[in-house]
Amino acid sequence: MSETPVPEDIAESWQVIHGYSISVRPLRRADLDIESAFVEGLSRESRYNRLLGGSMTLSRRHIEQLTTIDYSRDMALAAVVMTEDSEVLIGVARYVQEASAGPGPCEFAIVIADAWQGRGIGAHLMRKLIAVARSRGLPAMYGEILATNSGMLMMMKRLGFRTARHPGDATVNRATLDLSAP
Ligand SMILES: CC(C)(COP(=O)(O)OP(=O)(O)OC[C@H]1O[C@@H](n2cnc3c(N)ncnc32)[C@H](O)[C@@H]1OP(=O)(O)O)[C@@H](O)C(=O)NCCC(=O)NCCS
Repeated sequence: MSETPVPEDIAESWQVIHGYSISVRPLRRADLDIESAFVEGLSRESRYNRLLGGSMTLSRRHIEQLTTIDYSRDMALAAVVMTEDSEVLIGVARYVQEASAGPGPCEFAIVIADAWQGRGIGAHLMRKLIAVARSRGLPAMYGEILATNSGMLMMMKRLGFRTARHPGDATVNRATLDLSAP
């Protein structure tokens, strides 16, 4: 798929943590290598939680798909820091719309690099993702979270999502946010 125009206007310089200035910007196709390093650096636990206990490895092809975003309907926000002369990816939050004819409900996913967890980056990326989805007129956002992932479930509640056991799978919770509500 050819790259659709990247919405650079949503980029922002956000916060300084431990001397590192964090920027939030759309993920680009050119980020293949830093996305690859990011995924490879995740702990087993983070990977397990992100992939809902499924396959623990991601192929190069899958990583290519993760960096090829159709920005006319979907969104992927990257949190990056500059270290010496290179940019390092430390978190990604994304949504995809479920139906081909938008705007419709979207499913989110998020993962923060282990060393950067617990510093407010996940909550910040989710708030920005919600704001983008709302500004594009999407009616609802939802995601599936392992029932054992208490940190993520806590974050969902703080962000106003309703959570409930998945009807078909007791190991998974579904979190839903009505985007039409103020
Ligand atoms: C879950 C995850 C996205 C949270 O991101 P984060 O940057 O670590 O979270 P933040 O620092 O922004 O925390 C936001 C809120 O989440 C909750 N939270 C996050 N981690 C928590 C933990 N380990 N225990 C309890 N609460 C936690 C808290 O309510 C926190 O609010 P507070 O700081 O006011 O107490 C991150 O830990 C992660 O990437 N985990 C692995 C992948 C994953 O589980 N993805 C979700 C599946 S879609």
